[in-house]
Amino acid sequence: MGPGYFRMGLACGAGYDRAVPGQFVMLRIPDRPFPLLRRPFSIHRRIRTAERFAGIEILYRVVGDTTRALSGLEKGERVDIIGPLGHGFTLPGGCRKIFIVAGGIGVAPLVFLTEFLMENRVDPGAVTLFIGGRSRHDLLCTADFSRLGVAVIPTTDDGSAGDRCLVTHPLEKAVKSGRPDIIYACGPPGMLACVVNIAKTYHVPCQVSVETMMACGMGACMGCAVESRNDTGGYLHACLDGPVFDADEIKSNFH
Ligand code: FES
Repeated sequence: MGPGYFRMGLACGAGYDRAVPGQFVMLRIPDRPFPLLRRPFSIHRRIRTAERFAGIEILYRVVGDTTRALSGLEKGERVDIIGPLGHGFTLPGGCRKIFIVAGGIGVAPLVFLTEFLMENRVDPGAVTLFIGGRSRHDLLCTADFSRLGVAVIPTTDDGSAGDRCLVTHPLEKAVKSGRPDIIYACGPPGMLACVVNIAKTYHVPCQVSVETMMACGMGACMGCAVESRNDTGGYLHACLDGPVFDADEIKSNFH
């Protein structure tokens, strides 16, 4: 899909047709000794033909051994996945004006989210996507969002597409001039912290998908702890309680 970015379709059982956007799978390539642990991947889309559910897609960037090996697989080879896992995005009643914020590969679950909104009769004209990346090569899936009828506002660090600024600049401007009913976001920690601050400042409900290390994906290792905002000072599991959280639920340092 771009330098180092790949989209992969996985044929899988009908249970995955009940996945919601924001949920993920833990994936391993069988018959290879390394890496030992499964890796988490957001569900990028469900693949449906006119007659039936066919599988899911994942979207990833090559960053290590697993993703490098994945990118070299041939059509028809097998991978081993567990899912759908975790708690995904929800659509509260009465949401008409919706902002979605994507940073880099954080766009992965947001095409599925947008399709889900359309399935739930949200007017595409009421949805705006703010998408940021290092350069135009890092702005993925913009044609998918446009096809769905969503307004796309790109920004890049180098100015090769859209304005040369952080994605949160046009977001804040737009929130200031007309508050949305909800903001959804997925991207790097600094971006999420900034989005949450904007949402709090302007009193907009906000759901964020948090990227953390995950070793098991099922609540057994505590490798995915996210600090809760409740007064007990406790932690939540990104793999069970998230990866999508209401911004009010968690501390927004995201590190
Ligand atoms: Fe192991 Fe969440 S990844 S507890």
